Amino acid sequence: MAKTRTSFICQNCNCSSPKWLGQCPNCSAWNTLVETVIKSPTKSQNSASLSAFNLKQIKKEKIGKTETNIKELDQVLGGGLVPGQVVLFSGEPGIGKSTLLTQLALSLPHRQTIYYVCGEESPEQVFLRVKRLQKTSLKNSNLFLLPATNVDQIIDYLNQTPALASPAKEAGGPPLVIIDSIQSLSTADLSGMAGSVGQVRESAQRLISFAKRNYVPTLLVGHVTKQGNIAGPKVLEHAVDTVIYFEGEKRANLRLLRTTKNRFGPTDEVGLFQMTARGLIPAENEILIKNLTSTKVGSAFTVAEEGSRLLNSEIQALTTQSFTPYPKRVITGLSRNRAEMLIAVTQKYLYLPLFKYDIFLNVAGGLTIKEPAVDLAVCASLYSSYKSKPLPALSSFWGEVSLLGEVGKASQETGRKKQARNLGIKKIFNQNRIGNIRELKKIF
Ligand code: TYD
Ligand code: MG
Repeated sequence: MAKTRTSFICQNCNCSSPKWLGQCPNCSAWNTLVETVIKSPTKSQNSASLSAFNLKQIKKEKIGKTETNIKELDQVLGGGLVPGQVVLFSGEPGIGKSTLLTQLALSLPHRQTIYYVCGEESPEQVFLRVKRLQKTSLKNSNLFLLPATNVDQIIDYLNQTPALASPAKEAGGPPLVIIDSIQSLSTADLSGMAGSVGQVRESAQRLISFAKRNYVPTLLVGHVTKQGNIAGPKVLEHAVDTVIYFEGEKRANLRLLRTTKNRFGPTDEVGLFQMTARGLIPAENEILIKNLTSTKVGSAFTVAEEGSRLLNSEIQALTTQSFTPYPKRVITGLSRNRAEMLIAVTQKYLYLPLFKYDIFLNVAGGLTIKEPAVDLAVCASLYSSYKSKPLPALSSFWGEVSLLGEVGKASQETGRKKQARNLGIKKIFNQNRIGNIRELKKIF
């Protein structure tokens, strides 16, 4: 077979070069040349090879969703997996991607065949994880482990499996394919190493067209690197159907699944899990709040909206006198700009000399909150820490705070109240109780 022609294409200006260069000769950008397979132009095909579908011809079984039987994951997917759907699971190494996908493979109905391509681990290692996650008998298992890293071999192998080679005889339908991870795959057509941008993109592209052609749901694992997302999931996001990010503090046991793109369901949905010795278990909303009854200085409870979900969360603040000309502002889990603005508003309207205080702000449990309705809780926690007095017991705070110190109405007031009451909160401080943050003075 003739060797495929490749070329190095600049991702910035599309200029091509026969060999790799550190700097693009055309636009002078650094590190933008990526090895790409050049497809030889095909002879113009006539229109006989095309066919248009009337909506009535679309087959129902090709669009139905299959539930994964993991409730939190189904919620994030928008109901389940669609035939041919390609889902990218990304997150930092060690966050729990392989654990979740192994659990998924074990929880699917038995007639569904699953191929788990383990490019990073040996089948024995995956088996050990399976044993750890499932204590019951594995006799009826229809999970096959495929140790391979060459994407073309993997696709050839899958094409020969009974479900794809003779679909009429197979009752279970197309298999489900799990690729762990996309960074470990490569094709011999490119000279770059596995994990390079060119290899990751080309391997994913080949798997995606295989998945679409054969209606095979495919789950790709993609690691995100700390330094940046080069060669990571970012280069694939436009090509896949669904992108799910796995977040959370590795040390804290809480794990969050967040959809950032979904062609078959809503985005911004979150799933909550807890990592235990027996794998990931769905977490209750209460998990973010460890101890409700003991009131602590600098802690304010709130209800934050995440996708269609309302989460009881805790904002923690620490203000200590600073001895440096530029006091520290260490902010975790909240937008830095927003937090700085709230510090300024608190300083002005509650007359606190925060400009000479180091300030640390944190959302408990490793959660990242983006919505402004938690503003009031941030101001209340700052005030509590400055005053060294705990906020009233069993209280929750929400409402957006403006530059004038006014507290706005939050969306889903009724839902938030219900969620807070479920947890055991007795007092709610929202716009009705605190119209301006000056009124926080009254609550001690
Ligand atoms: P893993 O799924 O291998 O991470 P990733 O594939 O995202 O790199 O999970 C790694 C961590 O999870 C590891 O530190 C051990 C922990 N873990 C548990 O706590 N309980 C379990 O049942 C399993 C399988 C893993
Ligand atoms: Mg892994």
